[in-house]
Amino acid sequence: MRVPVALGEIQETLLIPLYGRALDARRRRSILGDTAAADLVEQIDYDFSKFRGPSLGGAVLRASIFDGWVRRFLIDHPDGTVVDLGCGLSTRFRRLDNGRVRWFDLDVGDTMALRRQFFADEDRYTMIEGSIHATDWYGLLRARGGPLFLLSEAVLLYFPEAQVHATLRQLAQAFPAAPLAFDTGGRAMMGSQDRNPVFRAVSARMRWTCDDPRTLQQCGLRLVESRTFADPQPDVAAGWPARYRLGMKALRLVLPPMVTTYKLNLLETAAADAG
Ligand SMILES: C[S@@+](CC[C@H](N)C(=O)[O-])C[C@H]1O[C@@H](n2cnc3c(N)ncnc32)[C@H](O)[C@@H]1O
Repeated sequence: MRVPVALGEIQETLLIPLYGRALDARRRRSILGDTAAADLVEQIDYDFSKFRGPSLGGAVLRASIFDGWVRRFLIDHPDGTVVDLGCGLSTRFRRLDNGRVRWFDLDVGDTMALRRQFFADEDRYTMIEGSIHATDWYGLLRARGGPLFLLSEAVLLYFPEAQVHATLRQLAQAFPAAPLAFDTGGRAMMGSQDRNPVFRAVSARMRWTCDDPRTLQQCGLRLVESRTFADPQPDVAAGWPARYRLGMKALRLVLPPMVTTYKLNLLETAAADAG
């Protein structure tokens, strides 16, 4: 029997990138090779066919850019800790496990309940039921110590600016000098949601508009790298088919805001003594 889903508004959006990764896995030249996502889609009782349009492929490109940053972190810190805040049904731990990393996946109650039907905690892998906005899980990470990589993919966009800023400040204070990766959407992206076929299929809407991630310095974050789908890391781009590698650059020339409004950002929290 397939597993039914009963998810809140924002939580339901996790099924969009899951389906994108599943479709990618079925392609002859897959970017992520996320066959686990394809298996999950088979096991979940949900009409995924209602999701259409470029955001499905976009979710795959986004995941590969985030993977690139985590991979680089793990080369420098093979025993480091990675925390995915708002993990949904991501299989990133399986994709990137180097046999030494300590990995935490965090998400809210209904998503975690769904996730636990398919995944179990392991030696170096722990799922946490919690909110990115709360602090009750910070102790787990502090107890662990050592180099830490925080990431949050397609989560903060769904919350109002004041709440996002407060959460980022909180994270920056609690985890000094740590890399933190998340995506931002500018006005062009926020204004086009109702025309986006995947958003027509769900009720959640993105709420946080951020045209320039450099402004997040006010939250105690330094921008290290900001990318769009037209300029991924070179090693990441090497794994993309030409239709994305060249297509995104062409699209940026013709319709710049369509590409540049959505940014994938790597930031760093300020050092403890930065004041
Ligand atoms: C678009 S999905 C992204 C899921 C995953 N990061 C991915 O890329 O596949 C948004 C995710 O945000 C999660 N979420 C919603 N509210 C949250 C909160 N307060 N704290 C952490 N995660 C939250 C949802 O459960 C869902 O998994």
